[in-house]
Amino acid sequence: MEKTLVLIKPDAFALHYSGDIIKRYEQEGFRIVAMKLLKMDERLASIHYAEHIGRPYYGDLVGFMTSAPLIALVLEGENAIARIRELHGKTNPAEAADGTIRKLYATNGRRNAVHASDSPESAAREIHIFFNETEILDGEYHVME
Ligand code: CDP
Ligand code: MG
Repeated sequence: MEKTLVLIKPDAFALHYSGDIIKRYEQEGFRIVAMKLLKMDERLASIHYAEHIGRPYYGDLVGFMTSAPLIALVLEGENAIARIRELHGKTNPAEAADGTIRKLYATNGRRNAVHASDSPESAAREIHIFFNETEILDGEYHVME
């Protein structure tokens, strides 16, 4: 079972799309093993988006991501990293396939509703930016009758 880091970005959260987006993950069979509401600060943004520092859009990206609350989740499932990227669709919603989360809920190539890790290495790195081990509830649980 693979884990991936997902962010429901400030645009989608503020537009009240979080419930619909989380419902899609559940419908597709992913398991939520960690989740929190938080507001990114510039330091957190610079760690999460380290590979984008110096790009022309970096300042606007950080401004957007730190402007309002977002939801961070860890999703678990078979081949979760690639499957969640597929479910999210292309970075620019104009190029995203019909039915993908970005096609449905993104505004443009910056305000694009969701983030997901793009490789096992980035998932391992990104999950621990937002969550410590005790917050990742990936054990076997049985709800009591
Ligand atoms: O999020 P994803 O991995 O699909 O795309 P990325 O190329 O890694 O870019 C990270 C994020 O930066 C995007 O999701 C956009 O929010 C933002 N971005 C932007 O604001 N302007 C661009 N020209 C490219 C990306
Ligand atoms: Mg990326």
